[in-house]
Amino acid sequence: MQAKKRYLLAVTCVAFLGICYFGAFAPWRSAGAPLDRSALASFREGWGRRAARQTADVGPSVRRLQRAAETTARRCRMATCFDVSRCAGRPFRVYVYPEDPGAPPGRTYRRLLDAVRESRLATTDPAEACLFVLALDTLDRDQLSGDFVHQLEQKVRALPLWNNGRNHVVFNLFSGSWPGYSEDLMFDVGEAILAKASMSEENFRQGFDVSLPLFPKQHPERGGEHGLVSAYNFPAVKKYLLAFKGKRYVYGIGSQTRNSLYHLHNGNDVIMATTCKHGKNWRELQDERCDEDNAEFDRYDYDTLLQNSTFCLVPRGRRVGSFRFLEVLQAGCVPVLLANGWRLPFDDVIDWRRAAVWADERLLLQVTETVRSLDSAQLLQMRQNTQHLWNSYFSSIERIVLTTLRIIESRVHTHLSSPGTVWMTSPGALLHLPRPSGSLSETPLYRPTVDVAPRDNFTAVILCQQGVLPPLYRLLKQVGGSSFVSAVVLVWIADSEPPSVSRLPRLPVRVRVTAPARRAISERFVAEELVHTDAVLSLDEDVTLIADELDFVYQVWRSFPERIVGFPARSHYWDDAKGTWGYTSKWLNDYSMVLTSAAMYHRYYHRLYREWASDVLHKTVDQAQNCEDILMNFIVSHATRRPPIKVTQRKTYKETAGGLMRPPWSDQEHFMQRHSCLNTFAAVFGYMPLLRSSARLDPVLYRDSVAVWRKRYSRLELVNNP
Ligand SMILES: *[C@@H]1O[C@H](CO)[C@@H](O)[C@H](O)[C@H]1NC(C)=O
Ligand SMILES: *[C@@H]1O[C@H](CO)[C@@H](O)[C@H](O)[C@H]1NC(C)=O
Repeated sequence: MQAKKRYLLAVTCVAFLGICYFGAFAPWRSAGAPLDRSALASFREGWGRRAARQTADVGPSVRRLQRAAETTARRCRMATCFDVSRCAGRPFRVYVYPEDPGAPPGRTYRRLLDAVRESRLATTDPAEACLFVLALDTLDRDQLSGDFVHQLEQKVRALPLWNNGRNHVVFNLFSGSWPGYSEDLMFDVGEAILAKASMSEENFRQGFDVSLPLFPKQHPERGGEHGLVSAYNFPAVKKYLLAFKGKRYVYGIGSQTRNSLYHLHNGNDVIMATTCKHGKNWRELQDERCDEDNAEFDRYDYDTLLQNSTFCLVPRGRRVGSFRFLEVLQAGCVPVLLANGWRLPFDDVIDWRRAAVWADERLLLQVTETVRSLDSAQLLQMRQNTQHLWNSYFSSIERIVLTTLRIIESRVHTHLSSPGTVWMTSPGALLHLPRPSGSLSETPLYRPTVDVAPRDNFTAVILCQQGVLPPLYRLLKQVGGSSFVSAVVLVWIADSEPPSVSRLPRLPVRVRVTAPARRAISERFVAEELVHTDAVLSLDEDVTLIADELDFVYQVWRSFPERIVGFPARSHYWDDAKGTWGYTSKWLNDYSMVLTSAAMYHRYYHRLYREWASDVLHKTVDQAQNCEDILMNFIVSHATRRPPIKVTQRKTYKETAGGLMRPPWSDQEHFMQRHSCLNTFAAVFGYMPLLRSSARLDPVLYRDSVAVWRKRYSRLELVNNP
């Protein structure tokens, strides 16, 4: 009888395991056919991790089942725990649950959610979503913390879309608490992807989870400070070789490593400044070294150490990750990692060997030798990489979140993932919008790794807002006279009917008239299908430029294909009295924008404008029917961290009526709008990306290498031409 019972039990176990395992492959999932899943749900409900934990004394068979469920969750892969068919053939969209008024998220989590909700990826329709983000705060799962959400398990299970965590991502910074600091989140995440800080190799599910950096409460939501290494990152070797300043735990987990650091300290070029002052009862537990250490600790200033050291030690804290990591990265101090088994942040896309050094906690004394063995070329490269990685992926909560989503997106849409070089090259993968069969040469960014060879001349895209024909005809004649024009596209947003191509002046190139359905000013940045060259020459219908000027701007652009090169320059300034940014069209010595009423740039920026810029930015432009050129300058400066290039105009320029020389200050409202756009954009970007350039660049251009070309464009000197 006993044996029979046991046999029956074993059979039931196997059956349940089977359901659990094959459930992941069940055809009804992808077909989306309704199916009574209550049996399975109650199985999960009943035998979930938490339930089993609470009833740990119910017997060996239950424990075996619990272990089986955990193993399934532990084995999660995109193929088994993620419904990729939800996302197939459409853009990757993320749904954020509405906030529960009874359990509002904490400040940090709310900022994280804001970053998702305000991104291009957000959707308010769960049916459109590929990925779900909980509004219940899961960031801090340390029971001793004030931010700990109680009864999270029940709250999560009550969500109708939860579906055992399928297609969900759960963000977490802290798990476990004194003394064990386990990686358990104190609720069953089911089949959800874990985006978690301080993840260990052991619990990390390769190709499924995402390892996050630990960031502090005051980490900015967007924008964020740049890396601290200026353009001149010399000398390679700084005053200190290796430094660390921080707490050491006299007892408990993680204490061994920090307690041994004094072996490395030599007071000369290796500084290990630790203090025992930590927690309430440190005195009771202090060891014989504490007094000496505490005194040494006070001798060094943390920021000075960071900035004057070549390498900085990042030892494990109580958990494997520590805040130290991001601080060190921003300072451009090459991290030396002393946290065995830690999965570094975003390490499935970031090649940390090029920006950090792994040391082994068990071989502490070899650390100095390891770092001494790197030569200065390697050092400079690593330091530069710390800055790129910080600036691209870590400087704000927004970047950290978007990087996480980007990693998940590229697992779902594998044909749209960015190659490793893009991740490791400034400005990084967040500005890379790959096409299914595209190549890196589609973008002017990611140089010098990518060789951009714009060979195929330019396409002129002319915005027709008034629809007045005579000035347009004059302009077309000049464009047609250029040696490098390959095609012309007229973007017709005027109220009048667009002219048929046959009524336009006959040009030596293909002309295409397009009247977009949405008659909005942003449509000047046409879809890439309309442009077959790398170079786009953007023009307003009423500008008065001559063919030679167009040729010249193309020649200049070829040397700077990642920048905006053009004629009408404007500037921004900080208005101290008002505490806002100001916009000016005065003829100043320096400028930070080149307007797209007469400018050349790479067509990839149309893609960034249309697909990367967030809805808030687009709405601002649409409402004002203005500022599209300012936004384009923001985007390009943000991507390149370089100012645009102004090309000198003919001397007569100022006297010409109309076009570029429409005195902008005559239209007060237009001007106020631009002023307000500038401030909105700066707020959305989280910083002011525009960079100033001095007009004195021009003589350099003309008198140096460009001087040779200039002779070819002798008519530029002529007054009142054409
Ligand atoms: C150390 O860093 C400070 C800035 O924090 C700098 O002023 C100082 O010159 C540096 N000292 C050395 C020796 O590099
Ligand atoms: C670009 O323009 C040059 C000069 O007019 C011409 O020789 C060349 O064939 C053009 N290239 C293309 C791809 O149209």
